[in-house]
Amino acid sequence: MSTVRDIRCWTLQDQRQSLILAAHGTDLAEIIYWGPRLPDGTDLEMLVAAARMDVTGGMLDAVPPLSICPEARRSFPGQPGLSLTNSAGEALLPRFTFERAEEDDQTLTLLYHDAKNGLRYRARFELALATGMIRATASLTSEQPVSVSWLSAPVFPAPQNSHEMIDFHGRWIGEFQTSRTPWSAGARLRDNPTGRTGHEHFPGLIVPCTGATNSQGSAYAFHYGWSGGHKMLAEELPDGRRQIQWGHATGSRRSPGTQFETAPLYAVFSDQGINGCAIAFQRHLRDKILQPPAPARPRPVHYNCWEAVYFDHDHATLCDIASRAAALGAERFVLDDGWFGRRDDDTTSLGDWTIDRRKYPDGLMPLINHVHAEGMTFGIWFEPEMINPDSDLFRTHPDWVLGDPDQVLGRQQMVLNIALPEVQAYLYERISAVLADHPIDYVKWDHNRVLPEPDSAQAEAIYVLFDRLRADFPTVEFESCSSGGGRIDFGILSRTHRVWLSDSNDPLERLRIQHEAALFLPMVVTGSHVGPRKCHTSGRETDIRLRAWVAAQRHMGFEMDPRELTEEEADVLRQVTRWWKGNRHWTERADILRLDSDDPAVIAELQRAVDGSRFVAFAGLSAASAQILPRPLRLTGLEPGTLYEISLLNRDDAPGLSRGSPLLKTETARLSGQYLMHQGITLPWTFPQSIWVIEGTRL
Ligand code: GLA
Repeated sequence: MSTVRDIRCWTLQDQRQSLILAAHGTDLAEIIYWGPRLPDGTDLEMLVAAARMDVTGGMLDAVPPLSICPEARRSFPGQPGLSLTNSAGEALLPRFTFERAEEDDQTLTLLYHDAKNGLRYRARFELALATGMIRATASLTSEQPVSVSWLSAPVFPAPQNSHEMIDFHGRWIGEFQTSRTPWSAGARLRDNPTGRTGHEHFPGLIVPCTGATNSQGSAYAFHYGWSGGHKMLAEELPDGRRQIQWGHATGSRRSPGTQFETAPLYAVFSDQGINGCAIAFQRHLRDKILQPPAPARPRPVHYNCWEAVYFDHDHATLCDIASRAAALGAERFVLDDGWFGRRDDDTTSLGDWTIDRRKYPDGLMPLINHVHAEGMTFGIWFEPEMINPDSDLFRTHPDWVLGDPDQVLGRQQMVLNIALPEVQAYLYERISAVLADHPIDYVKWDHNRVLPEPDSAQAEAIYVLFDRLRADFPTVEFESCSSGGGRIDFGILSRTHRVWLSDSNDPLERLRIQHEAALFLPMVVTGSHVGPRKCHTSGRETDIRLRAWVAAQRHMGFEMDPRELTEEEADVLRQVTRWWKGNRHWTERADILRLDSDDPAVIAELQRAVDGSRFVAFAGLSAASAQILPRPLRLTGLEPGTLYEISLLNRDDAPGLSRGSPLLKTETARLSGQYLMHQGITLPWTFPQSIWVIEGTRL
């Protein structure tokens, strides 16, 4: 901290950025600068003075600070950072006074007190030097119980040189769709009442500065790491300043209390385009948040039986499928829904976590033994937070349900009130019994409906249950599934290891979803499976090459019935799987860079090894191009002055209609990074719904 003429300043910085906070007297601090690193020895007094804004007619006589928690009682002209009432239901308008700061190179904690209302506010910033990620949290402590309808994580300003913001919406089998909203007076509000992260509300925001693309320009990005539903507010004030607030969804903090904390807000600045933000999120999640079981092991190729058999579990069929999956290259077999209670369809048995003896008369061990004999490990599906009205559990404990008895069902099910200790205890006992009795190394943990009402206690309780299971079964990996990508966030991913990105195994849908999700998610957590020839969720038939390569972009698996594969299809799948296994030692740690394709029909990315020595690029032609020949594909993230050897890995896939002789169709090319990034690669013509795979090595 530096104090100059009653102004306090704090700086957090790394090579990429400086984050500077300042405050007058004992006021709450304000972020006065966040952007490229400022020169050493920057005069902070001058910075504060230089940031001072004018006052004109029709305004107050001073500009109220856009602090880390804007206070309503200081005439702040926008949404305050905190809204609360006392036990009499009266609104409290806090006014905080600086108490002290705690800081070191990477963290800054600011503590404030409001003596009149008996409140303490704390903001904490932590800069991860290895990833450039800022993790910010806010907490509030009260001497008397209060009800908090809104507590924002520390408030960040948004840049003025930005025309639009990008946030996310989506749906089942259509996750990670982007909305671009122009900045204008007033607020863009995303308030998620569903009680889970949701397909509809991935908690991310990107604020590109004017002219920024994936590969160039400056951008800011945010992610709220919380699984219980968030609220985001991006507001332009009447004076033109812009603020960004994140916290739990409105009304989801149901009980009065004396202690409140936000989830972590992850914030990143990049001067390397939007990809710079994406890389920071990917690396931070992979290296700082994920807690993989020790010792580290490569991601195994999955086989998941859901789309092959659904609820129809037959021992001989499953063994046959398992053997075929292993022969294709699978290394882990995941038994999906249908093994417990009397679960013959999705109307029954959630909650009854005992093995269905009709389907498994000798228990699960015969199947597990078979899977092991084929050289695979064994994983299993649970949906612990749910209950079907048609279940023994419901018949015994109807009072364990969250919400009203006459609520609308979702997939014929209700949600258990996990915050009840007896429900926690029951679920822990049931799940741990299955895990303790069987050699299981993977749990696919599902969550197939929204909550009947917002309740943050539910997400808190599920974190507790996960933490307990993780501690007691440290070698088991968990997957976060929620009808596909309904619960993807850094909160759940600090307890789990993989997400089921989407129930869509349609490679064209997947190509897009994976492309957008790479803004936040690295390859190691992003499950992607080769689906059936005719997709069960889109009805579209696609070639095995496209299906296999799209799955090979991420954590690869299979989900089709292997009995449907022709010999040729099986051959292709074996080859691609072999490639994936042969490369995962570096792709698992690669940065995924989204390419700015000059053809809107092409969705393309480049995965670059951490040391920059090699890359693989995927260019998926999602539809027919407007022009007849492919536009060159411009790469990114390479060293301009370095030569790369480039080859088209799947050049044999060029169709007969490609009659010319572009170099890569028959040979490798040696080209500089400069050429590849500015001019791009000339690819052969190909069919829509196909994909090129380009390998590059630094010479
Ligand atoms: C959800 C999941 C699917 C599958 C089914 C089983 O829809 O997203 O992958 O596990 O449940 O019922």
